[in-house]
Order: sequence, then structure tokens, then C-alpha cells
Amino acid sequence: MKIVGIYLSVLVVCLCLVAAAGRSMKAKPCWCWPGAQHMVAGPKPQIERNEYVSYGSFGSEPDWNNPARMLPLDYEQEQGKRVFYQHCVWCHADTTPAGPSNRSNVTPDPPLMNDGAILNVESDAKLEKIIALGGSAVGKSAMMPPYGSMLRQDEIDDVISYIRVVAVPEYHKPPSRVNTTWRNKPR
Ligand code: HEC
Repeated sequence: MKIVGIYLSVLVVCLCLVAAAGRSMKAKPCWCWPGAQHMVAGPKPQIERNEYVSYGSFGSEPDWNNPARMLPLDYEQEQGKRVFYQHCVWCHADTTPAGPSNRSNVTPDPPLMNDGAILNVESDAKLEKIIALGGSAVGKSAMMPPYGSMLRQDEIDDVISYIRVVAVPEYHKPPSRVNTTWRNKPR
């Protein structure tokens, strides 16, 4: 009889402990699971939108002579900018992303890549030739290296479109050379 009494009282104490623990557990079901995190659909947290929206559709470049003037770049021009700052800036600009440029050490002086007075008179085909085959192929200095096997055709076209957009004075595409006078001829 006595042993049953002890057994029952131990059982009651245990049940009380379980009940007490259960009540405090309800407040915090798991130590590793933050109470605020619910697995049900709720309003999405608002993330502040502060991503950089460029002025051009794809990028921009300051006018080299007037940094306050930003030039919008389209896709090709932006790709050309990348090629330029990777390969050409070291000789064709006075400052580079890495600091002073090598331009003053090169003879003859490589023209500044925005020098419209020199570059605007050259056709796209002529620029393409000097970039791909190097200065020596067009009778200029071999200090201008050939990029034909380093750059793809589209990269050369892109860098030319970049040269055109940064040109000072501005570059204007010459009228198409395709002969259209036959349209106006009396028949
Ligand atoms: C190692 C220095 C160097 C690098 C790098 C270089 N150039 Fe040149 N570039 C020259 C020199 C020097 C000349 C001038 C050649 C002359 O006038 O005889 C020149 C001339 C030119 C010209 C012709 C300008 C004219 O008078 O018609 C173009 C266009 C040109 N470079 C484009 C580029 C492009 C695009 C790149 C990058 C893909 C590049 N260069 C990289 C040194 C360099």
C-alpha cells in the first residue's frame, strides 16, 4: 500500500513537471527557430531599391575634356568602353584607372582616343584595319600593336563605336556611299 502511494505521488509530480514544461515550451517551441519567423505566406519584406540606374541605356562616360558632361552609351559603345579600358587606355589617354598613363613614354605620341581632329577623318574601315593589323600595316608606327588575334571582330567594331562617341569635336557619320542617284534618273 505504501509503495503504491509513493508511486502515485511520483507520477503526479512527473505529470506536473511535464505540464509546466509544456506551457513554457509553447512560448518558444525550439531554441533554433526564431519566433518571428513564420513559415506561412506573409507580406514580403520591403527591400529598399537603391541600385544604380545609369544615365544611358547601358552606361555612360564623362566627356574627357569636360567631366561635367556625361555621354550616354548604348550597348556596343559600353562594350567598346570595356575593351578600351582593358587594352588601349595605357597608351591612348593621359590618365588610366591604375594611375599615370604610359602615353608620354611612347614615340610617336599615340593620339588621345577622343581626339576628333585626328580620328574623325578616318573611316571605320581604316580604323578597323589599324586596330586589327597594327600601325605597320597602314604605314604608321609599329608602336601601335595589332589586335586582330586578341580581339574578336565585334569587339573591334565596339571599340570603334566607343571612339566615335567620345570624339571631340563630335563625330558625324558620313552619308552612305551607296549610289542612289539612279533612283532620280529620268527613265
Ligand atoms: C603600346 C601603346 C599602344 C596601345 C596599347 C594601343 N595603341 Fe593605338 N597607337 C599607338 C601609337 C604609338 C599610335 C600612333 C601611330 C602613328 O601615328 O604612327 C597609335 C595609333 C592608333 C590609331 C590611329 C590613329 C590615327 O592616326 O589614325 C588608332 C585608331 C589606334 N591607335 C587605336 C587603338 C586601339 C583601339 C587600341 C586598343 C585596342 C590601341 N590603339 C592600343 C600606340 C598604342
